[in-house]
Amino acid sequence: MKSRTILVFLSLALMSACNAKLMDLTQTDVERGNTNYKGVTLESLNEGKNLYQQNCSECHNLKRPSSETIEKWNKLVPAMVKKLNAKMEKEVIDGRKQDLLLQYLVTASTAPKK
Ligand code: HEC
Repeated sequence: MKSRTILVFLSLALMSACNAKLMDLTQTDVERGNTNYKGVTLESLNEGKNLYQQNCSECHNLKRPSSETIEKWNKLVPAMVKKLNAKMEKEVIDGRKQDLLLQYLVTASTAPKK
């Protein structure tokens, strides 16, 4: 019985490890975000995060923001948005939303490890 409980816990832990768990954003993130992008707010970062969660697991699991460098996100986001819009056959993510998404990913990617 005991080892079964452990097994259940282990498989649950494994399952949740498949999709990146995104950290909650704080004022510290807003300040760090503003060093890269003027005018970033908690709202704009959260909008970017929502866009990421809602649109970017269409073809693969969500990647951890820290899995890519700022340079890579700058290249990847426009390329992935293009893939997404092509798949959906409409402009799900326009230029403004793409900026929000990128600002979120870049800001979250540089968060200090806890
Ligand atoms: C239409 C399918 C599709 C959608 C939607 C999509 N991706 Fe991807 N993604 C791929 C494929 C295919 C790859 C494999 C590498 C490649 O083709 O560049 C990939 C790879 C990646 C990688 C890893 C890049 C690397 O160097 O290995 C990241 C990070 C990523 N995607 C982020 C995103 C983000 C952010 C979004 C949302 C804007 C997104 N993806 C939406 C298909 C998609």
